[in-house]
Amino acid sequence: MDIILIAAVTQDGFIARHPHETIRWSKDLSLFKEQTTGWPVIMGSNTFNCINRELKDRKIIVMHREDSPKGILDTIDKEKCFIAGGGKTNMRFAPYLTHLYITPHPNVFGSGVCLFSGRVKEMNLVFEAVVPVDKINGVFQFQYRVN
Ligand SMILES: NC(=O)c1ccc[n+]([C@@H]2O[C@H](COP(=O)([O-])OP(=O)(O)OC[C@H]3O[C@@H](n4cnc5c(N)ncnc54)[C@H](OP(=O)(O)O)[C@@H]3O)[C@@H](O)[C@H]2O)c1
Repeated sequence: MDIILIAAVTQDGFIARHPHETIRWSKDLSLFKEQTTGWPVIMGSNTFNCINRELKDRKIIVMHREDSPKGILDTIDKEKCFIAGGGKTNMRFAPYLTHLYITPHPNVFGSGVCLFSGRVKEMNLVFEAVVPVDKINGVFQFQYRVN
């Protein structure tokens, strides 16, 4: 199964200003919708609580501290699933990731929630594709496979 981390990041590697920020600065929400529709989406409880709108047409799996990443992945019988943050959840799934879909944005926060909240092992990434998100503002999604 493909296990794809999907995130909008600032130029200094943050995904939010603080753990309870509802993300309004991301320009790739429609791409997120398009790519994740029909596939299971795993997210942490902070992220779930930040989402104001219902995410239709896909199964949302909310991760809690007592859940194990492998235990959750073992329940999924699909060709792919998405890991959609936040930083704590991304960190816990890091050893299982097969792909990263990262959209750098024209922002610098200086501090906040990192893409991975904590130490993860080094990953070798192989570029696979780039998808335009907002060409005028220089926003593109970069897709990598974890080697
Ligand atoms: N830019 C983007 O693409 C993007 C994407 C996703 C999310 N975000 C943002 O990321 C932020 C949330 O990130 P986050 O890292 O704070 O949260 P998170 O990963 O969404 O959720 C927190 C997770 O950590 C667990 N946890 C909390 N305290 C813990 C502890 N002391 N020990 C062990 N586990 C603990 C929680 O479990 P319990 O439920 O048991 O507490 C939950 O599983 C939000 O602002 C969200 O909007 C941004």
